[in-house]
Amino acid sequence: MKLHEALLKRRSCRKYLNKEVSDKDIKTILEAAMAAPSAINKQPWEFHIIKNKELQSKIKAIAPAWDRNSSLLIVVAGNKNNFIEGREDFWLEDCGAAVENMLLEATNLGLGSLWCGVYPGKERMDKLSELIDLPKNEIPYALIHFGYMDEKLESRTQYIESKVHYIK
Ligand SMILES: Cc1cc2nc3c(=O)[nH]c(=O)nc-3n(C[C@H](O)[C@H](O)[C@H](O)COP(=O)(O)O)c2cc1C
Repeated sequence: MKLHEALLKRRSCRKYLNKEVSDKDIKTILEAAMAAPSAINKQPWEFHIIKNKELQSKIKAIAPAWDRNSSLLIVVAGNKNNFIEGREDFWLEDCGAAVENMLLEATNLGLGSLWCGVYPGKERMDKLSELIDLPKNEIPYALIHFGYMDEKLESRTQYIESKVHYIK
């Protein structure tokens, strides 16, 4: 798939088929994630793959907005050991870039995906960290659902001319 086509085709999928994502596809998605740019190439991200259905149900129950019938969950977390001293907040941009790469790769592979926000909601962060036994040096950033889509979502542009400002 051409990159621009994938960009417009990527949509938030909230209905999935009962079909597993292959390990090969998971590896491809993670490779895409880790290809993302990061400030001074610190790569402050960690990826937690959750295939266990019982654990998935517990995670999806944390928030009504997370309760989707996806077959795979990946938690992206920031590793404090790789934060830049004095510029700690850059981990947020770095992890965001990694997440977007994952969504686009999923689209490229014919999969649906859904980015669910975790950081900075303290209650969600605490509950999720506890359920997946996240190491103390990691901060949960996002929960991403993946799976085969069971709904038709149209490609679309959201280009709005008035948001574009040419500086003279
Ligand atoms: C930081 C962030 C947090 C989000 N959290 C949720 C969520 O908790 N539940 C959900 O269903 N969608 C969530 N979304 C998906 C957005 O609702 C969705 O991207 C937006 O409505 C645009 O639709 P599209 O992804 O199909 O282009 C989140 C997206 C982002 C970027």
